[in-house]
Amino acid sequence: MNLMKPLDFSIRPCSYNDIPAVMDVNETTLPENYPLFFYEQILEKYPKTFILAYNKDDPKQVIGYIMWRVERGLSSFGLQHVKKAHLVSLAVLHDYRRQGIANEILLESMKLIRDFKISEYVLEVRVSNSGAVKLYEDLHNFIKIRIIGHYYRDGEDAYYMAAKIQDNTKNQTSNQNLNGMTDMEIKQYFLDKNQGYILYNCPNCSSLHIKALTYSLAGTIDPDNSDSLLCADCNEEMTLLDIAAGKYNSFK
Ligand SMILES: CC(C)(COP(=O)(O)OP(=O)(O)OC[C@H]1O[C@@H](n2cnc3c(N)ncnc32)[C@H](O)[C@@H]1OP(=O)(O)O)[C@@H](O)C(=O)NCCC(=O)NCCS
Repeated sequence: MNLMKPLDFSIRPCSYNDIPAVMDVNETTLPENYPLFFYEQILEKYPKTFILAYNKDDPKQVIGYIMWRVERGLSSFGLQHVKKAHLVSLAVLHDYRRQGIANEILLESMKLIRDFKISEYVLEVRVSNSGAVKLYEDLHNFIKIRIIGHYYRDGEDAYYMAAKIQDNTKNQTSNQNLNGMTDMEIKQYFLDKNQGYILYNCPNCSSLHIKALTYSLAGTIDPDNSDSLLCADCNEEMTLLDIAAGKYNSFK
């Protein structure tokens, strides 16, 4: 339980002078730390969405921060190549948690990063970090897309989570995720592009999913690989090994 008295906080964009205080918050709250130039680069490229929470009684006291970057890649929700906002880091000092600070800087930064014409938000979070997962899932419409094995330096797995710009993320079915294409159209899409993908059905809810045929699924998958993917519709866990072996592939 947090016994500190509620804090009168406000939020503002980070400035270069704030970076040492942001680094202090980062280093006291997270094992993922970064050199000064990394913060400077994020601030230079994404100044509006590098946001701080500060103590109104002492505006130099930084109590939380958020940083995003923008990247391109395959959508978590379909076949398109899209622009995504990637959450780089978010933290709030221990004594000031559960007062809505993370929620507020998330809301504001997610609104502002839309200026980059992104179509989805993505992030990685430790599988053990149930508080952060709840924050992303319950308040910001993120869903778990897959588990990334051994993502963190200490060996812990990450959930890769994503949220669409639209609010209807949670109601989409996998077939809509594939842009409403028929099986034949999907097959033709791959033939035309000569691309490697595998289609598989969730054994629990039968939703159709797609996975890029990366090196690990292209025949060289390590038999000890324990990575798994989660069904976006029902959270059923499927191992990469089983997917690669075609266990769930009912698409002909
Ligand atoms: C995760 C973190 C940023 C949340 O910050 P916060 O300011 O305490 O979060 P908020 O007060 O805005 O929480 C909003 C809601 O998220 C959920 N939530 C947040 N932290 C939670 C926790 N520890 N346990 C359960 N639910 C939690 C709750 O639903 C909460 O609403 P409620 O307090 O009314 O129940 C903070 O705990 C933190 O800095 N942790 C260490 C760094 C970290 O894990 N960063 C995320 C890396 S991906």
